[in-house]
Amino acid sequence: MEERLQTVLAPYKGKRDMLIPILQQVQAALGYLPDDAMAEIARTTGLPESRVYAVASFYAQFRFTPRGKHTIMVCRGTACHVRGAEKILEETERTLGIVEGETTKDLEYTLETVACIGCCALAPCIMIDEDVEAKLTPKMVSEIITGRNTA
Ligand code: FES
Repeated sequence: MEERLQTVLAPYKGKRDMLIPILQQVQAALGYLPDDAMAEIARTTGLPESRVYAVASFYAQFRFTPRGKHTIMVCRGTACHVRGAEKILEETERTLGIVEGETTKDLEYTLETVACIGCCALAPCIMIDEDVEAKLTPKMVSEIITGRNTA
C-alpha cells in the first residue's frame, strides 16, 4: 500500500485545496481510506488530521473500511418488502455471516440494501454486482451465494 499511496500523493505536497481530489484518488487506488493513509494525506497536505477526517466523513462517497470484491444489494422497496424482502435479507446475512453494511472477512462480499432495483414485477430481488436475481425465496438466496463460492 505504501508505494501506491506515495505515487498518488507525490504531486500534492502542500496542496491543501486539493483535499477532495486527493481523497478520491487515494480511495480509487486503495479501495477505501485506511487510517495510515489518512495520516499520510494530512502530512502531505499540511492539514491537521482532524480536518482530513472531518472532510472525508462529510461525503458519503468516502469509505473507511474495505469493500468486498463483490457487492450484494438486497432490495427493500415496497414491492420486494410485501413479497418477503426481510426474509431474503435475513438469509443473505446468515449465509454470508455478516449484517447489512458489512464486508466478509475474506473481502469477497459487501452486503447493502437498496430502495429499489427497478425490477419490481420480479420481486423479491437482489443484485450481485450487475446481475439481478429475481423471484427469490430464502432457500434460493442461500443456494445462489453458496453456488458462487464453490464454482
Ligand atoms: S421494490 Fe424491489 S425491485 Fe422495486
